Amino acid sequence: MKSRDRLRIAMQKSGRLTEPAQELLARCGLKFRQSRDKLFCFGEGEPVDLLLVRDDDIPGLIAEGVCDLGIVGRNVLREFQLSQPEPGEGLAELRSLGFGRCRLSIAVPHEDGYDGPAQLDGRAIATSYPGLLGEWLRSHGVAARVVYLAGSVEIAPRLGTADAICDLVSSGATLVANQLREAAVVIESEAVLAGRRDLPADERGEIAELLLRRLDGVIQVRDSRLILLQAPRNALDDITRLLPGMPVPTLTAVDGAPDQVVVQALCAGSVSWRQLEDMKRAGARDMLVLPVEKMLA
Ligand code: PRP
Ligand code: ZN
Repeated sequence: MKSRDRLRIAMQKSGRLTEPAQELLARCGLKFRQSRDKLFCFGEGEPVDLLLVRDDDIPGLIAEGVCDLGIVGRNVLREFQLSQPEPGEGLAELRSLGFGRCRLSIAVPHEDGYDGPAQLDGRAIATSYPGLLGEWLRSHGVAARVVYLAGSVEIAPRLGTADAICDLVSSGATLVANQLREAAVVIESEAVLAGRRDLPADERGEIAELLLRRLDGVIQVRDSRLILLQAPRNALDDITRLLPGMPVPTLTAVDGAPDQVVVQALCAGSVSWRQLEDMKRAGARDMLVLPVEKMLA
């Protein structure tokens, strides 16, 4: 395999994950020049390039070493892992990214109703995820026939090719439109960063580590708020208990007011009006809640 000195990240060319994935990389300080064929985007600044492909192809591209990392649904990654001779080796989920949330679910025709896994015994279930469905069936002791379909899984029951389906559900609109009801969740999914278990031992490994650190910062920052307030020292315990995520605050003395202190704390999660009002009742004043732009531990 030819060695490369630039890191290559694969992501979905067009679909639900494309925009949020691009935004996430931009927040990590990565900029790309869009090439005319739009398959390959050259990275400006950092030595990181993008490959825009079909989401189902992403795990294979990483496994073959064409790409180093990929942003892909957990469902696609897990399905690929299950298709490998040694599912524990090879690819790993390096980070969960918090967008593109959906679930892989079994759904049955609306009029059938659902009263548990045993109902699926001896039935045919259409899916593009035979590995994940097979695992669920085994763990629930159900003997069903898995019918593999590459797409348009939701119409299989009406066509008579299957009794039920196992497909991704996001808003649920597809199920409603096809008179199907969600019966059981096989896995909860979201966008993840996939990569080989061991990062490349050359410069690419270093770039990947830099990217992972930035990514952790971006993910942490996205859900963090900096809160500033002033409070009497004797109210500190009560106020600190009200801070989301119970962070350890930094205290600064107030000149000329020895009983007062300025509190600064990084909160996990947003701070609601209700929480601010509770803190005010506990003695806090001059409260400020600020978004955090960057963080580096
Ligand atoms: C999935 C799935 C359904 C639809 C469900 O396909 O196959 O068709 O989304 O979403 P809904 O609950 O919001 O209606 P997707 O568009 O992700 O494409 P792909 O699975 O072919 O990549
Ligand atoms: Zn797809």
